[in-house]
Amino acid sequence: MVKLIGKNKINCAVFISGRGSNLKSIFKFSKKKSSKFNIKLVVSNKKFAAGISIAKKNKINFKIINYKNIKEAERQILNCLNKNNIEFIILAGFMKILSKYFIKKFRNKIINIHPSLLPKYKGLNTHERTIRNKEKFSGYTIHLVNEKLDSGKIIMQKKVKILNLDTPDSLAKRILKEENRIYPKVINKVLSRI
Ligand code: GRF
Repeated sequence: MVKLIGKNKINCAVFISGRGSNLKSIFKFSKKKSSKFNIKLVVSNKKFAAGISIAKKNKINFKIINYKNIKEAERQILNCLNKNNIEFIILAGFMKILSKYFIKKFRNKIINIHPSLLPKYKGLNTHERTIRNKEKFSGYTIHLVNEKLDSGKIIMQKKVKILNLDTPDSLAKRILKEENRIYPKVINKVLSRI
């Protein structure tokens, strides 16, 4: 059970596996006066994730987790979350699936962003698949995390038009720009209601 501690800002951890553009924009937003949250911790399953340098540069605590053994990895993460008084988890490009056990500990307190219009195109390679299927629109979805992959309660969804000349890369870039702008705002809204 996670208890929200009565104070001004909610302590959040951001889980990443790579580039960290969302981490960067979320952290930047967290410094605003209107922000309801602090980024206290970055968790990465990849030692050389570019997002780690964002954590270092901004003096955010970070923890690199070896995922060879999922149970042990999650035990270490939970330990670290506990030590840092983390109340809410933000997934931002985290490429590991959290166990039922883990999700239960943070029920309705884990948020994710997925670059498709869920429930369509869950999982990996969304941009390749949307273009291959000649979809007219793609987009992104911000949702709470439950036990099933990319299936928790949808908080918001935004359509992005697929252009004739789009490649998976160009589409990904356009969607990511939107994600970076909107994700921090949505997180803030969700946390205002807690
Ligand atoms: C984003 O496209 C997000 O939707 C997906 O992973 C990507 C993470 O990008 N879940 P970044 O590491 O935040 O730049």
